[in-house]
Amino acid sequence: MKSQATLSYGGDYNPEQWDPAVWREDIDLMVKAGVTMVTVGVFSWARMQPDAETWDTAWLHEVIDLLHAAGIRVDLATPTASPPPWLGALDPAVRAVTPEGHRFGHGSRNHFCPSSTTYRERAIEVATRLGEEFGGHPGVVLWHVGNEYGQYCFCETCTEAFRGWLRRKYGTLTALNDAWGTAFWSQHYSEWGQIHLPGVVPYLVNPTQSLDHRRFASDLLLDCYREQRDALRPLVGELPITTNFMGFFDLIDYRTWAAEVDVIADDHYGDPASPDQPFQTALVHDLMRSLKHAPWLMMEQAMGAVNWRQRNVPKTDAQRRADVLRSVAHGADGVLSFQWRQSRSGSERFHSAMLPNAGADTRYHRSVRQLGEELRAMADVAGEHRRGDIALLFDWESMWTLQEPSVPDRSRQVIETLQAWYRPLWERGFLVDVVSATEDLSPYRLVLAPSLHLLRAEARETLRAHVEAGRGLIMGAFSAAVDENDALLPGPFPVGFTDLLGASGEQWWPLPDDGVQLRSTRWGQMHVSGWAEQLALTDGEALASYDHSDLGPAIVRKGEFTYLTCLPPHEVLADLIAEAAEAQAIRPDLGPVRSAAGAEVLRRGPLTFIFNNTTHAITLDLLREASDALTGIPTGDALTLSAGESVVLREVQQ
Ligand code: GLA
Ligand code: ZN
Repeated sequence: MKSQATLSYGGDYNPEQWDPAVWREDIDLMVKAGVTMVTVGVFSWARMQPDAETWDTAWLHEVIDLLHAAGIRVDLATPTASPPPWLGALDPAVRAVTPEGHRFGHGSRNHFCPSSTTYRERAIEVATRLGEEFGGHPGVVLWHVGNEYGQYCFCETCTEAFRGWLRRKYGTLTALNDAWGTAFWSQHYSEWGQIHLPGVVPYLVNPTQSLDHRRFASDLLLDCYREQRDALRPLVGELPITTNFMGFFDLIDYRTWAAEVDVIADDHYGDPASPDQPFQTALVHDLMRSLKHAPWLMMEQAMGAVNWRQRNVPKTDAQRRADVLRSVAHGADGVLSFQWRQSRSGSERFHSAMLPNAGADTRYHRSVRQLGEELRAMADVAGEHRRGDIALLFDWESMWTLQEPSVPDRSRQVIETLQAWYRPLWERGFLVDVVSATEDLSPYRLVLAPSLHLLRAEARETLRAHVEAGRGLIMGAFSAAVDENDALLPGPFPVGFTDLLGASGEQWWPLPDDGVQLRSTRWGQMHVSGWAEQLALTDGEALASYDHSDLGPAIVRKGEFTYLTCLPPHEVLADLIAEAAEAQAIRPDLGPVRSAAGAEVLRRGPLTFIFNNTTHAITLDLLREASDALTGIPTGDALTLSAGESVVLREVQQ
């Protein structure tokens, strides 16, 4: 099913920062750049409602009418991420409180307390007003609630809200005391009112309290989103309503949010200065595509430099193009950027835009126009979706438990581990679904679980059945260790899998700084550092072992199940994954390309996207004739890409 006939192209548009004369120039330039959609209103609350009693939306009507007349569709945002100063003056509790008890002042953004009744009522009011005024406007095609939800507040109202959330979750204090293990350190609660948010404490905080706080904070913001969405729904008919996610952002569990948005929308700002950016970005895109197993929307990215890193390196023309194409290759049905016109004032005046401060007659802006044209030439890919070849497990609650300071090694990084496992898949051109351990894994013959630290009973059963059915499972270190309350699962680890593995874990063993040698008849001698584990072997096969008096097997396999007690060198991980994929007869779909051979290759619908992320030229053999999707020029039987170049091929119809 095609969800959209076109690939959207455009960006955040903040007309409140400009004179009406500039709006007209903007729209003229947008048309020339092939812009089809803009997000309007995100930070315009103070302009829409200059004080508690006054509404001014005439300007917004004018802007949306102008955009509509030019054929540019509008993603209309409720401006609720940044409440205006008058609201904070009216009720200071609108502004959030830090763990140390300081209330935020005005002068930045995202300073609202998510449990403030004043804030929430006013936010619903502004959403309703926008719904009433623009719900039937033919130019508005998408609704965007708030912006990048993701903050904590430690005020009294939030503390009360936490207690309410816990009451609903546990029902009784006995259940809470049990789940939190409050027998430890005399933490037993005898009244709900004794419970605090884990703000400032003298030493390590109860890990279950902390885990529940993270779940609560994500749910609390979801309530804020939901009530605006619900206010909009009757006013906007069937139009999709969404909000913008931030990849693996660790304050929100996007799995619980995914069902509440009509289309997954993501903001992604990979660092152009990092050579690892292409695969890291691809991983985030795959997460987004997998959240609903559907095409998604790149809601914000940068055409050039951002302004919030220590050093903000711009994108080269080749990187700008590759990033836009990569989003589409990984399932985006459109690419919007922050923002259309570069601001002259404010904290983002040095942030790139589609239209730079230097103007339209620039090499930079010409490349932006060129991309608009390219997306038009590949519009038929919109709506195309396919299941991934391989499942990579990732769960927010598991990450949260691993981020607790009371674990054996605080330096162990969940996302870095995930990236290390993803990289070999990306290099070979596998399409990867990033899924939860608790979802239906039956579409996948190979499941990779780099950090399945928190293991729910249902996930254990699913994965056991998966292995027993002869399917592939590779599990990473420190997995199957704790339950949903972050309490240790009893027995040798990976708990519940030791019979299937033929090995059982006794101690977690972070290594000294200089690491340790691994010995393997297969891979020879290699060095590992960071994390290790002490395993005893029963009937599993040790593929590599530690050169250490107390540590034995490092990588163990039995049948189609492999367990890694450390993060081995890239080639070893790549080998293990390739072998497991081969055993399950899973091959990447590279379209007409024979083998990825150093390039990034991904097929979507009739198109094959090829990226040369290296600093040298690459030549790829083609199995079948294809043509360049933009120029229509046939490729012949080989294709050479210069350093940094991207090519999109369309297969020639027989
Ligand atoms: C986020 C915000 C935007 C803007 C960009 C800058 O994604 O949603 O408003 O601040 O960052 O990179
Ligand atoms: Zn609060």
